[in-house]
Amino acid sequence: MLEDYVSKTQKSRALYERAKKVLPAGVSYGIRFFEPYPFYTARAKGSKLYDIDGNEYIDYWIGHGAHILGHSPSVVVEAVKRQVENGTHFGTSHELEVLLAEQVVKMVPSAEMVRFTNSGTEANMYAIRLARAYTGKSKIIKFEGGWHGGYDALHIGVKYPFHIPESAGLTVGATQDTVLAVFNNFEDVEAKAQEESVAAIIVEPVLGAGGSIPAEKEFLRGLREICDERGILLIYDEVITGFRLAPGGAQQYFGVLPDITVFGKILGGGFPVGAFSGRREIMERLNPLVYERPNFSFHGGTFCANPITMAAGLAVLKTLEDGGIISRLNKMGEKVRETLREIFEAKGVDVQATGVGSLFNTHFTSKQVRNARDAFEADRKRLAEYHINLIVMGVFFLPTHFGSISAAHTDADIEKLFQATEDYAKIIGKV
Ligand SMILES: Cc1ncc(COP(=O)(O)O)c(C=O)c1O
Repeated sequence: MLEDYVSKTQKSRALYERAKKVLPAGVSYGIRFFEPYPFYTARAKGSKLYDIDGNEYIDYWIGHGAHILGHSPSVVVEAVKRQVENGTHFGTSHELEVLLAEQVVKMVPSAEMVRFTNSGTEANMYAIRLARAYTGKSKIIKFEGGWHGGYDALHIGVKYPFHIPESAGLTVGATQDTVLAVFNNFEDVEAKAQEESVAAIIVEPVLGAGGSIPAEKEFLRGLREICDERGILLIYDEVITGFRLAPGGAQQYFGVLPDITVFGKILGGGFPVGAFSGRREIMERLNPLVYERPNFSFHGGTFCANPITMAAGLAVLKTLEDGGIISRLNKMGEKVRETLREIFEAKGVDVQATGVGSLFNTHFTSKQVRNARDAFEADRKRLAEYHINLIVMGVFFLPTHFGSISAAHTDADIEKLFQATEDYAKIIGKV
């Protein structure tokens, strides 16, 4: 299969040779590299990516899950064209940021106020700082396999084995206040939350990079209760689930509300974005008219609330608001998980299809996958091999990463995923 990939992607191969001289690993984000080298994209539209060799891929990575309406949907293209003519970056306050904040508050049950950032990483960083400022406490509980971006205090326990630091250069000082707990294991959190100085518990309601594993509702309820009992803030990282599982995100889908929510991806309509929201009383800590140093919690940056991002995000959120598209995508997700499971099982291959709503992943194991440990103990090599096989057949997943369905995916696109999976299952199948 690798030979087939190489023969189809000769221009990408040549570009990779140039790229790796000027970009470490030839990429701008380590996860975008895959063996033997990544293809380089020339353009994207709807559910498709086209590489520089002219190959077409049905895209289930879909911009790290950001493009819920597909690549360059017309509502976004129109909104962005209008805004480019009116200014790309004001460096002052403007109406679009107010409109998008109002839209977020309208859609997300726990959001009373919002602040915009340029990435999910940044939003998580400021959310943690805000939780510490508000509670006057320092420790953070995060979960094994939880990915919240590259901010030092949250950049531990992401990949298995969880005790190995994710990066060089993380100081003891930056990480010593972060406590790791096991996802979907309430007893573990309960034991760790006894510590007096816990400011916040941060959780992805669906572990994304950790395997596309939904939180169990009882688990989220338990987190909510323990936070209320102990004066801890509950932070949902909804960078993936926000505006995807429901118009109001995972908190609406599961019916358990956090104190602070972190957003990214879909909110920017395909442009760089992050945001965090919460109750007024908490968010007012960011208000320099109300709090002075040392009680004020800082947030800001040159490109915060960039008008192009705000225009694109507003166009997408307005399209999603009535829930029609989302419920259609959620049904498609259910069918995808069920069918992938059936295809592998019919060939005697042990598999768990995980995810919820329009998010999905596969894990080659006979054991139920409830947390990141289970996901990493499954056959990851097989998962990478499956995804590379799909790529050769014109179906793109970033190898080992989750898939997302967008409104641009047609029944024929989904059929092609099933067909390619069936072809792969035949190769590895036992029956
Ligand atoms: C759940 C979650 N949180 C945070 C982030 C970081 O966001 P960004 O890549 O925009 O910094 C990601 C990115 O994939 C994510 O999936």
